[in-house]
Amino acid sequence: MRILSGIQPSGETHLGNYFGAIRQHVELQARGQGIYFIADYHSMTSVREAGRRRELVRELALDYLACGLDPRRSILYRQSDLPETCELGWLLTTVTPMGLLQRATSYKEKLAAGGLPDHGLFAYPVLMAADILQFNPQLVPVGQDQKQHLEMARDIAVKFNQTYGCNVFQLPEPHILEEVAVVPGLDGRKMSKTYDNVLRMFWPEKQLRKAVMAIVTDSTPVEQPKDTRQTLFQLWSLFATKDEREELFVRAAAGGLGYGDVKKDLAERLLRFFAPMRALRADLARRPDEVEDILRHGAGRARELALSTWAAAREAAGLGAR
Ligand code: TRP
Repeated sequence: MRILSGIQPSGETHLGNYFGAIRQHVELQARGQGIYFIADYHSMTSVREAGRRRELVRELALDYLACGLDPRRSILYRQSDLPETCELGWLLTTVTPMGLLQRATSYKEKLAAGGLPDHGLFAYPVLMAADILQFNPQLVPVGQDQKQHLEMARDIAVKFNQTYGCNVFQLPEPHILEEVAVVPGLDGRKMSKTYDNVLRMFWPEKQLRKAVMAIVTDSTPVEQPKDTRQTLFQLWSLFATKDEREELFVRAAAGGLGYGDVKKDLAERLLRFFAPMRALRADLARRPDEVEDILRHGAGRARELALSTWAAAREAAGLGAR
């Protein structure tokens, strides 16, 4: 089974990313041939500085490798190392109805949020369709917010097959990553870099502890019962067993539990949980050439897997010499 997903290099990877996607991507490696790429072409619709893009790509590669993406088993590549994807994007864009793209909620949302309505943002789903269809993957693990893009990829595949009377593209199945855990940010809203409320697991220890101590709580005095729906308890629960959780929640309900102690314990648990990943990341960061090799090697393997689809699509469309 081929499993494919793209990851946007758009900012610092945080706990929300880890529990919302990275962990599942890493686990899925056991179920088939994982193909993961860092979507630097896609990032061009938001990041407009060359140096920053390079830095974001490098950081994201380190994050994924540190979190357990195994380059001996899975493929990790940089999207722009496969420029053929852009060519396929053109083949697909010529059969993509305007109406289909106009219905994309992510485009509408980005515009509403003040994004510039340029063609890249508009055509984003077509490039994403090319990313996917070139590998004919069986499984595309994405968050709920990407479901519509995946449906569009299916529509575009059908359109191409119909237009050229061929069967070049298979229809990819979305595998929607459930909200495995609620990861609230420091201020209680969903953890997101847009809200500037993130906890990054790879921050230096001191900074991480400080951020944990700054988690917003209500002002219930120590001796009184605590509301365990608060961010602090939800974050703490990510690093506890079910039994531990029940025990703490009973103590919270009884009163006498101070927020400061829960915060300190959360910091300890967080650091313990991520200790091996932090060590691996620090180690890899000292060997940038090795990371670059992994990405290049990944692109080579990805190219081999996509080659036949690229050729079949060109052939079906009557491009190039026979
Ligand atoms: N659009 C996805 C996101 O913002 C990233 C992405 C690009 C992707 N191409 C993809 C995801 C192909 C899955 C498959 O998260």
